[in-house]
Amino acid sequence: MTGKEIREKFLKFFEARGHRILPSASLIPTNDPSLLWTAAGMVPFKPYFTGAAKPEVRRVTTCQKCLRTPDIESVGRTARHHTFFEMLGNFSFGDYFKEKAIPWAWEFTTRVLGLPEEKLWISIYLDDDEAFDIWHREVGVPAERIVRMGKDTNFWEIGVGPCGPCSEIYVDLGEERGCGSAGCGVGCDCDRYLEIWNLVFIQFFRDEAGNYTPLASKGIDTGMGLERVASVLQGVPSNFDTDLFREIMDFTAGLAGVKYGGDSKTDMALKVIADHCRAVTFAISDGALPSNEGRGYVLRRLLRRAVRFGRVLGLHEPFLYQVAGAVIKQMGGAYPELPANQGHVLKIIRSEEERFGETLAQGTEILNRLVQEARAAGSTVIRGEDAFRLYDTYGFPLELTREMAAEEGLTVDEEAFARAMEEQRERARRARQETEYLSERDAFYQVLRDKLGETRFVGYDTLEARGKVLALLKEGRPVDKAVAGEEVEFILDVTPCYAESGGQVSDHARVSAPELEVQVLEVSRPVEGIIVHRGKVQNGVLKENDSVLVVVDGKRRRDTARNHSATHLLHKALKEVLGPHVNQAGSLVEPGRLRFDFTHYAPVSPEELHRIEEMVNQAVLENLPVQTFITSLEEAQAMGAVALFGEKYGEQVRVVKMGDFSVELCGGTHVRSTAEIGLFKLISEGSVGAGLRRVEAVTGAGALRYVRAREEQLAQIASLVKATPAEVVHRVESLVKEVKELERESEGLRARLARYEVQTLLEQVKDLDGAKFLAAKTSAPDMDSLRAMVDLLRERLGSGVILLASPVGERVNLVAAVTKDLLPRGLHAGKLVKEVASMLGGGGGGRPDMAQAGGKDASRLQEALQKAYTVAAGQLKN
Ligand code: ALA
Repeated sequence: MTGKEIREKFLKFFEARGHRILPSASLIPTNDPSLLWTAAGMVPFKPYFTGAAKPEVRRVTTCQKCLRTPDIESVGRTARHHTFFEMLGNFSFGDYFKEKAIPWAWEFTTRVLGLPEEKLWISIYLDDDEAFDIWHREVGVPAERIVRMGKDTNFWEIGVGPCGPCSEIYVDLGEERGCGSAGCGVGCDCDRYLEIWNLVFIQFFRDEAGNYTPLASKGIDTGMGLERVASVLQGVPSNFDTDLFREIMDFTAGLAGVKYGGDSKTDMALKVIADHCRAVTFAISDGALPSNEGRGYVLRRLLRRAVRFGRVLGLHEPFLYQVAGAVIKQMGGAYPELPANQGHVLKIIRSEEERFGETLAQGTEILNRLVQEARAAGSTVIRGEDAFRLYDTYGFPLELTREMAAEEGLTVDEEAFARAMEEQRERARRARQETEYLSERDAFYQVLRDKLGETRFVGYDTLEARGKVLALLKEGRPVDKAVAGEEVEFILDVTPCYAESGGQVSDHARVSAPELEVQVLEVSRPVEGIIVHRGKVQNGVLKENDSVLVVVDGKRRRDTARNHSATHLLHKALKEVLGPHVNQAGSLVEPGRLRFDFTHYAPVSPEELHRIEEMVNQAVLENLPVQTFITSLEEAQAMGAVALFGEKYGEQVRVVKMGDFSVELCGGTHVRSTAEIGLFKLISEGSVGAGLRRVEAVTGAGALRYVRAREEQLAQIASLVKATPAEVVHRVESLVKEVKELERESEGLRARLARYEVQTLLEQVKDLDGAKFLAAKTSAPDMDSLRAMVDLLRERLGSGVILLASPVGERVNLVAAVTKDLLPRGLHAGKLVKEVASMLGGGGGGRPDMAQAGGKDASRLQEALQKAYTVAAGQLKN
């Protein structure tokens, strides 16, 4: 059975049992900046398990792309370690529980996949008798093949959040794959018993203090690794031998002219490249970009490790982007986002490969230095910390450092390297655990929402509404009132206030009642369905159950809406002018301006910027109607809606449509028709990272302010050059010309002056034991003219020693020359000028025949020039 067939059979099986098939969510978790990658099938559904969001349907099945990166180093060395993998899963949000999940898993494994019953083993959580009964009594698994295991293997949790005991299905791959030890069985570290499916019975919420509270509704989360199952069904020894990997490895082998299955070093390289290339291809297609921190750093590490293993295969030019092409070809059917982003993905990989080529050279240089340092210190060992730094900063794997050090007869302190690596892992682990699930504040608001119900947002239609104060909080703790001067967070049953989201800043508002006034300057939505106002009581007392009038600051809202609607037009125009690879990578919509980040590899040229600005303004002038409506995700996509990375994983979406020009999924507030935007003016364009650009623009009153400021600048320039604005260009042109002429003229004068000065200087020539000697002060304004004077004098004298100095402010420029014929007598311009400069608190030097220097203390110049004679005399050989 091919990987593709398994994927399809799984989804169809659960679809036939009332599950909705959902497409894989992005590898970049939605609305969850705390999580680096989607690492399990349940990640997109976290809010449904915790109750933070309400699901559209309660039975769902997916094939989820996943990325796990703690064991990057193991990939390629073992049969089953991966970074990127696909996880098949079925999920129940408060619908069915063990009684259905278990029999279905058995039915699928034995009937659909056809795995022999007698080869299957089951593990359950220690005291989970309920699961035991279902497996044994209902399904008919013999009791001796059901193993009870402890919390470390059969309880599934990550930090704070939903969790529960789990039950796993194992396949016995046969005695010959086992370790042969007496205690070998399910759970043994050897290769005999392979876990293929994990059924998690979600029923607790683990808080930050480690307490387990039963969840209001229980759920099911299951995960079956596609690659593993494929390896079992295809009867191959490792995941890499399945069709899912072989196609990619064979492609790479073809590029390098090697074969898989011969040499173990070659095989490992092929495996690493295949695994990492899948990860990199999917991650970039989902909007990640290589960088030096967070997600981008992981991506960079993977990409570099793959490139480095390419070197093992003799691939020294960029090649990984071609392997990515093979990945897209193989997986494009199941993941249409891959072919859609192909151009972008290949470009990013290729440019990163090129950059790494340079880094590799830099790292080699550093390693060479370390080798020298070690030798100089009489050591034969490269310090582990240094090897780790090479690994961490320059992507130099330990094996490479070891190999290169060995060529120089040195070893690496690998224990210290391992310690440094472990320390870093520990740091990463802590960082992950700390941020894995809902924060305490969010959990707090969630409980509040379950108690008080959801806030009704009426702000799409009105800027004014009456609401009742449901709760007041100070520093996250409930209070029953807030008095004048106090800052407070409060929740209303109804509000017209837009909470910050989707890049759009929050509304400002005035909340009032008789003898009460509160100024609201921040509105947020910590969990879905709840809108929190933060404000300061200006007058009176704000109390629970107060009925208040909320009036949104209309000007701020309208200015923001102009910028938000303009952002949609801009997004579309960027795609039209620059190409379909352009994707939104972040935005900020404020009343005063808008900022938009997007993927693109080169600076946007002035002509392109012009065309983009034109296109947006054209859409404004056409006064396109702006329609907003709710529909299904599928329908919105069929209409060509631009879905952004991190779109909500729900079925109903809000669509914002502007004529036939732009369709986007968006929850923001907008103008009613595009003419309200007014003038759209781009004001800057620049880079904010590899392959990432940023533009800023203004609209409406902001554009007017911008144009006025420019006008004022022009008027100022005009008045400075004594012209009218209309004449400015012409006037500046002629000024520039005039300045050039004056410069030429002054140069000519300076040259004449120099010649004249040279003439006077010649009168100061002294005799130095038969040679001509001249040390003098001049008025040369810079080094160049001073050197020119020295040349002139040298020519005039034919033979001699010259030292010229010219003060420039406090400092002194010095140039010395000795004609060639005098060099054998021991005269040295470099040493001469150095000594003189040191008297002036400076330094410099150079060749025996020509040198220059600088001094800092012009007041001692006379004295120094006199000393020069003595110095030169001292240089003369007898
Ligand atoms: N969430 C479970 C896992 O990832 C199914 O193993």
